Amino acid sequence: MSQKNKLFKFAQNETFPHMFQPKLMYGSPGDFELKGRWKSDFFHNENPITVELGCGKGEYSVAMANEIPTANFIGVDIKGARMWRGASDSLEMGMKNIAFLRTRVEFTPKCFGKDEVSEIWITFPDPHLGAKSTHKKRLTSSRFLSYYQNFLEDNGIVNLKTDDDTLYEYTKQVIARNNLPLLIDASNLYESEHYTGFLTLKTHYEKMWNKENRTIKYLRFRLPQNVILVEPEE
Ligand SMILES: C[S@@+](CC[C@H](N)C(=O)[O-])C[C@H]1O[C@@H](n2cnc3c(N)ncnc32)[C@H](O)[C@@H]1O
Repeated sequence: MSQKNKLFKFAQNETFPHMFQPKLMYGSPGDFELKGRWKSDFFHNENPITVELGCGKGEYSVAMANEIPTANFIGVDIKGARMWRGASDSLEMGMKNIAFLRTRVEFTPKCFGKDEVSEIWITFPDPHLGAKSTHKKRLTSSRFLSYYQNFLEDNGIVNLKTDDDTLYEYTKQVIARNNLPLLIDASNLYESEHYTGFLTLKTHYEKMWNKENRTIKYLRFRLPQNVILVEPEE
């Protein structure tokens, strides 16, 4: 993407009524103003909220918001030029049940209140395949899941779609080590009975991995609030 194109998207993002770009930093005090108030002050309804973390262009948020008018959707990513796609499409379609939040996933506890979110989608996150010390950057690590416990309702659902074997196996270990209720484990999604509905929707990255014939995997599990999460052993 050219620098000019990026700057154009950044400028447009500033004008979108459903794009929020709070200036949050590590250790900074205070929360985002809509924390705990998304339903009352932005969506103006009491419908459940689904959050897509590392949403990229926001394909899942846009498609689900379009299909399910009785629920609200928020795409979260740090890259504004990517989110512009979903924000611009949903604005053009006149959708009122979707928003985009440009921030680091690490800051989501500053952006969502207790029990405010019912479901989380994570599609094709970076697998962080480096040394063990980098595993804590995985969006399904015990560290990140403990962030989600702050705002995901008790036993709320977490969905992971990935092409990466290591991330898939690692996430299963996190689930097993912490006794999280595993609802679906599809090691080859396209050949499983679960390959219907939204799961057939392909994100930008999924299409790229399809070209390399990578096997797509899917996990769906519950996250209780009262579990003190730990990392799996080696
Ligand atoms: C591999 S891309 C996948 C994008 C999209 N979900 C898809 O499937 O096409 C990973 C995305 O996660 C975002 N991301 C990674 N770590 C993040 C973090 N800690 N906070 C916010 N966004 C993050 C990146 O900016 C990127 O857009």
